[in-house]
Amino acid sequence: MFSVLLPTNGLLMAALSLLLARLSSSSLSVPDIPHIAAYFGTKTRYEEVNPQLLRDLSSVNASVLKPPPNERCSPVHLTAVIRHGSRYPTVKNIRRIQKLSELVRREAARGSAGSEAAEDLLQEIQSRWEMWYTEDMDGQLVMKGRDDLRHLARRLAGLFPSLLSEENMRRLSFRTSSKHRCVSSVEAFQEGLQQLWGHDEVEYSHEVDDELMRFFERCRGYVEGVENNRTALLEVEKFKHGEEMEGVRRRMAERLGLPHHHLTPDLVEAAFFLCSYELSIKSLHSPWCFLFDENDAKVLEYKSDLKQYWKRSHGHVISSLSSCPLFHHVFRTLDKAGRPRRSTEASPEPASILVGHAETLLPLLSLLGLYKDQTPPTANNYHSQHGRRFRTSRIVPYAANLLFVLYDCQRGPRLQLLINESPARFPGLEEEDAPLYRDVRATYRNLLDGCDFHRECEGRTGGRGPNTEL
Ligand SMILES: *[C@@H]1O[C@H](CO)[C@@H](O)[C@H](O)[C@H]1NC(C)=O
Ligand SMILES: *[C@@H]1O[C@H](CO)[C@@H](O)[C@H](O)[C@H]1NC(C)=O
Repeated sequence: MFSVLLPTNGLLMAALSLLLARLSSSSLSVPDIPHIAAYFGTKTRYEEVNPQLLRDLSSVNASVLKPPPNERCSPVHLTAVIRHGSRYPTVKNIRRIQKLSELVRREAARGSAGSEAAEDLLQEIQSRWEMWYTEDMDGQLVMKGRDDLRHLARRLAGLFPSLLSEENMRRLSFRTSSKHRCVSSVEAFQEGLQQLWGHDEVEYSHEVDDELMRFFERCRGYVEGVENNRTALLEVEKFKHGEEMEGVRRRMAERLGLPHHHLTPDLVEAAFFLCSYELSIKSLHSPWCFLFDENDAKVLEYKSDLKQYWKRSHGHVISSLSSCPLFHHVFRTLDKAGRPRRSTEASPEPASILVGHAETLLPLLSLLGLYKDQTPPTANNYHSQHGRRFRTSRIVPYAANLLFVLYDCQRGPRLQLLINESPARFPGLEEEDAPLYRDVRATYRNLLDGCDFHRECEGRTGGRGPNTEL
């Protein structure tokens, strides 16, 4: 199945790119991928992070696995925390896109664009794009998103053939957030594996677990202190109305020949997201992309990064602490998998696949101490943040994944982290790609002994009443 499907896909892709190349060379001559595609924050395609996949979606690079070569290591367990794949916009953004498209249609009809270039651009948008998003699409997984997860599953099976194998099928564990796009993603992952094994009918065996995958909405300290607290996201608001964003708005208005007070920062962002959605859903280079140059895109990316940083990451410590249940779950699973066993005991689960959101991954990555820059990003320091590590376009694109690989080695179990299929090192243990598991545990000792969800999330009130309406 696998070997038959791929060439077909490849041909289709080739035909599509040819068509796209024709379309674009007939107008503004451009390559297929928008020049701003790597700056879409959480709306970035996985391929922008791993461009080799544009040529071959099944390409597996086994040299990312780096246990010490002289210790005869073999992988014994994989825990994968995975974000859902490409999806439709949510209702909020669909409404903004609607507003933007009406504004542009009115302007084009008035024919009052300031310059010839602006008139051409309005024409280009009018003739090549039509509003096709409807509110019922609300954040659901798209076809491309199913493919993201199917192909990821196949690549991981290629990387860990002894773990994600057909004979282990019933010993793999799958857990997911209850959101439609996540359930569809965990299904697609299982399809990817079972199609690889030549099964005609896919058997699904996942559990929905929001306590684990949507911990953020159950943590009162987080919801009240950050999510519903305007002051907690002050930097984002300031930047949204600050001089860099103002510049992007002015340039976009000029390119369209609009008076610039017609555009709000939300409409500017809607156009940017529209470019991202047309690419991630339909693989199209949309004319909306011409409204931004690379510097504009960097400003808009920074705006998204600010939001994620202050809402989901290092900006407020409660955001990372809200992921304590997931942190403990992962380490309990690793403990079990690494424990010495008598030969009569059942072997532990070879893999645990956990599917959630960017909002699931970012707090956990932050709790582990990853992507923490010395200077926090703020509304005022955009110009000193070019080299920052915290770039959501790189960290949490669609289908982003955090892999914990446990090896059995001569000196004991070792653990390696991979982020989006590339090696990453544990903060504090930077000398080694795959340190001894006991050293990793020692590094996170305080969290392993503490990090109590109820204590952290309920704070001084000490209550632990149900908090599920949020
Ligand atoms: C494979 O992975 C290794 C280790 O991360 C990296 O150095 C190398 O560039 C990768 N090769 C390809 C073709 O991506
Ligand atoms: C809201 O956020 C600010 C800034 O982080 C903080 O000082 C304040 O205590 C928060 N308010 C609540 C109700 O948690």
